[in-house]
Amino acid sequence: MCAKQVKKEPREIPTTGHEWDGIREYDNPMPRWWVWVFYATIVWGIWYTIAYPAWPMLTEATRGYLGQSTRADVAAEIKRFDDANAEIKAKLVAAPLADIPANDELNQYATQAGAAVFKTWCAQCHGSGAAGVQGKGYPNLTDNDWLWGGDMEQIYLTINHGIRNATDPDARYSEMPKFGADGLLEEAQIGEVVEYVLQMSGQEHDATLASAGATVFADNCAACHMEDGSGDRTQGAPALNDAISLYGNDRETLTASVYGARFGVMPAWAGRLSEDEVRAVTTYVHALGGGE
Ligand code: HEC
Ligand code: HEC
Repeated sequence: MCAKQVKKEPREIPTTGHEWDGIREYDNPMPRWWVWVFYATIVWGIWYTIAYPAWPMLTEATRGYLGQSTRADVAAEIKRFDDANAEIKAKLVAAPLADIPANDELNQYATQAGAAVFKTWCAQCHGSGAAGVQGKGYPNLTDNDWLWGGDMEQIYLTINHGIRNATDPDARYSEMPKFGADGLLEEAQIGEVVEYVLQMSGQEHDATLASAGATVFADNCAACHMEDGSGDRTQGAPALNDAISLYGNDRETLTASVYGARFGVMPAWAGRLSEDEVRAVTTYVHALGGGE
């Protein structure tokens, strides 16, 4: 069967009265479904601000009756990981330091956890690759040139207590005299000893001044940097007879080092990091390439 085609009379639709270039706007009602969806969003919106943290108040936002909090979610997530790692962390803390690198299970956990600690707490000074590239005076931790010592025990001590800081009484400490600023050596003697250091580190130098500098060195520097300039780890005195340097190996920088001395400071981490974190980052640094 066939529905009868009824031709609708064109309905007279009122217009809003607006007209642009002959185009008029019909005053049709909104589609009903659209209106209901619109009302629904209003209801949902009000419910949402009651259910979830929303309205800013004086000290914090309203909490919402569902009690949802991203901060609590993060805390729970962290606790979940902490709980999962509790066993291996306890093992890490109990193991003798020197045994950690050879223990596959501990070593794998420690180097990974240590890398995360390093990125968070150490990279701003030591560089994200631990190559000390962030600035002058921050040692490269990836080579086997150590100021204070590169076995697990020594690295652990350095990280735990730091270096020349005012906060930890057990911090590593030593102080090179300010030979120029405190008038311990004449300008000329400083010039000589710098030529000697240039010679020792295999660089272009003035041989006459350097041989005079050898005496200055033996009298004033060898006690810390050793006769042959190989440095002394018990005092954190760097080797001067190689190409590696903390502050720079050129004539001008060496002169500044001897004139005013340096006083590199590293914070202590015991107390700020947990024991397992210190051990993890110790293992990580030890594994970077220079570990002994
Ligand atoms: C505020 C800057 C700073 C931060 C942060 C820092 N260090 Fe250091 N670190 C130094 C300085 C400066 C020295 C060298 C001090 C000196 O001249 O003896 C140093 C030295 C070291 C040494 C001794 C290297 C050697 O040759 O004996 C180790 C190991 C070390 N840092 C590890 C770390 C670790 C691991 C962290 C993170 C937990 C860290 N550092 C965070 C500044 C920092
Ligand atoms: C009491 C021990 C001591 C004596 C004496 C001493 N130094 Fe040092 N020297 C150090 C220490 C420690 C450092 C590392 C300082 C730091 O990291 O802040 C250092 C650093 C340096 C540096 C910078 C090395 C670098 O890697 O950038 C130079 C150069 C230097 N000394 C030369 C000399 C010369 C030359 C003399 C003798 C005139 C001398 N020192 C005497 C302890 C000493």
